[in-house]
Amino acid sequence: MVSIEKMIDKLEELPTPDFVVQKIITVASDPNASVKELANAIMMDASLSSKVLKLANSAYYGIPREITVLNEAIMILGFKTVRNLAMSVFTYGALFQGSQGEDSGINREALWRHFVYVAVASETLGEILGYPVKEELFINGLLHDIGKVALDVISPKVMRALHKITSEKKRNFTEAEDLLEVPSHTSIGAKLVEKWGLPEMIVQSVAGHHNPELYIDSINAEVVAMVHIADVVINTMYPGDSLSYGKPELSHEALNILSLKPRILPRFIDRLKDKLVKVDDFVNM
Ligand SMILES: [Fe+2]
Ligand SMILES: [Fe+2]
Repeated sequence: MVSIEKMIDKLEELPTPDFVVQKIITVASDPNASVKELANAIMMDASLSSKVLKLANSAYYGIPREITVLNEAIMILGFKTVRNLAMSVFTYGALFQGSQGEDSGINREALWRHFVYVAVASETLGEILGYPVKEELFINGLLHDIGKVALDVISPKVMRALHKITSEKKRNFTEAEDLLEVPSHTSIGAKLVEKWGLPEMIVQSVAGHHNPELYIDSINAEVVAMVHIADVVINTMYPGDSLSYGKPELSHEALNILSLKPRILPRFIDRLKDKLVKVDDFVNM
């Protein structure tokens, strides 16, 4: 129906994290950068600064008193969390910008909720399994389905056709991609985050979130596996949000990679539910 080459060419039309977001990502990953440098990078964009402050004060972080300046947000929440907030604001904007012409008719609010919930679920799983940098899991989870945003922008017609199959026939998004023989959201998404200059870890979790066994030998195998499990759990709890309506398929390889004992699952789900009630400020950004 559509070749991946044609789609990749159209990636040029997609929003790219602009200068400000690029700068925030670079500064936040520089171990020698100062609080002031990161605050200055965010302050270059006034609307971004106010949204980041709003999220910093959200129930999710539970800071007992109001944070009114960015320096404070960075000192209290840390570089990586503030970078995650900036990426969340950017991704939300990219999704709701949509395509210039035809509309695919998908429910963008639901898709956005899926992004936020998988970010939170990935972070929660990371906490429970003792992963050292849980903030990395948030951003990997947030961006895992970014290929769906790309599809929605570059080919609303293909997105509409995929959604028709998944919703009417109760199929998974990946099954619909196979049926229509269109490039997968995993491959398009991976190309996109690569183009944005995001780290290899994110490229691999976008590419492998439905098939974590592909990255079993990678140093990022555990992160890819955690994002996969988070995605399956959220798709089970909220079917249809991600435009996938079939039974989510759990990769047993992901459980092996993490040596995950099924007995931790109830604890994970309980903690996850506690957190999901606190993310309204992200969902209704
Ligand atoms: Fe996906
Ligand atoms: Fe997903």
